[in-house]
Amino acid sequence: MENLFFNPTKVIFGRGCVGEYDFSAHGKRCLIVCGGKSARLSGALDDVRNALGKFNIAFSVFDRVEQNPTVETCHAAGEAAREQKAEFIVAVGGGSPLDASKAAAYFAANVHLTPETLYNGECRAKPLPIVAIPTTAGTGSEVTQYAVLTNHRISNKQTLKSPLLFPVTALLDAEYTVTLPPHIANATAVDALSHAIEGYFSKSATTVSDALAEKAMFMIGRALPSLAEGRLDAALRERLLVGSMLGGMVISVTGTSFVHSFGYPLTYYENIPHGEANAYFLPDLLNYAMRVSENRVNRTLRLCGVKTCDEFFELIRRVCPCDKLFEREDAMKYARVGENGASTRRGIYEPTHDDCYDMLRKYIK
Ligand SMILES: [Fe+2]
Repeated sequence: MENLFFNPTKVIFGRGCVGEYDFSAHGKRCLIVCGGKSARLSGALDDVRNALGKFNIAFSVFDRVEQNPTVETCHAAGEAAREQKAEFIVAVGGGSPLDASKAAAYFAANVHLTPETLYNGECRAKPLPIVAIPTTAGTGSEVTQYAVLTNHRISNKQTLKSPLLFPVTALLDAEYTVTLPPHIANATAVDALSHAIEGYFSKSATTVSDALAEKAMFMIGRALPSLAEGRLDAALRERLLVGSMLGGMVISVTGTSFVHSFGYPLTYYENIPHGEANAYFLPDLLNYAMRVSENRVNRTLRLCGVKTCDEFFELIRRVCPCDKLFEREDAMKYARVGENGASTRRGIYEPTHDDCYDMLRKYIK
C-alpha cells in the first residue's frame, strides 16, 4: 500500500479572485495576518478588506509578522485571534505571514499551548481555518501542512507539521507579485524550484509528487533566464505562481531535503533570505544525485532547459549570486547544523559527513 497523495486545500486562481471569493463561508469574524509591507504594497490587503466588508465580516489586522517569524510572534497573533473571537484567519504575504498564520491558528484554538510547548504539546482543538493569499511565488505554504518558524530555543528554524495546518483555500492572483523587488522575486523562485527538485529526489516521492515536480521544474526552470535578466511579464508571473504552488504540493507529500537543512542556518545566523540560502546548496543536490540516479538528474536538467550540472549551476548563480563568504569557524558550524537537520537524510542520496563539510568549504572567506 502506498499513500500517493493527500492535499485538501482548494486552490483558486486568477486575476481578481480575492474580490470574487465568498469569505462568508468561513464565519462572521476573522483576523488578517500579514507583515508590515508587502500585503499593503501589493494591494492584497485592500482587496481583502473590501471583500470582507462586502460580507459584513468583522475583522482586525495583525501586521507584526517579521521576516522569519518567531514562535513568540505567532503566539501573539494567536492571542489576537482569540481576542477578536475570530472564526478564521486570512493570511496575506510571503512565506513568513503564511507560516505564521498557521501557528497562530494552532495557538488560537489551543489555549494551553505556549511558545515553549508548541512543538511538543498536544493539539487538542482543530486550528482555525486559514485562507492563504500569497504575494510571492516561492513558498508554496498556501498548499502545505508546514509552518517553518524561528525558534531561538534551538538557535535555528524549526518546522511545525500537522495535517490540520493545510489552509482551507489558497487564492492565487499573480498581480500581487508585481511589486516584489527583483532580488526577492529571484530568491523566492529558487525556493520554489528547490521544493520541486528536493521532492523529486526524495525517498518519499510518489508517482503523483513526481508528476507535480516535473511540471513545476519546467514552469520555474524555464523562467530562470528571464528572472536573471529582470524581465518578468504578467504571463511569466502567473507561471511562477502556479509553479510555486505545484512545488508546495510536492513537498506536502515528500517534505524537503538537505538543501533546506543547510539553508536554515544561513538564514538564522547570516540573515540570508530563505530562497537565496537554498541557492547556495541546490546545485550540490544535483551533483550528488548523479551518483545514484543519473536518469533523474538528466530529466531535471532537460526540464529546466539546461544540458549539464555546470550549466545549471551557472544559471542559478545568475539568478542568486550567493556571494557571501563566511569565517571558517562559522562555516563549520553551519555544516554541523545542516548535517543534523531534520530533513538532511530524506533524499535518495544521503550526504556523508565529508559531503556536509565540503558543501560549506566552498564559502569560506
Ligand atoms: Fe522553502
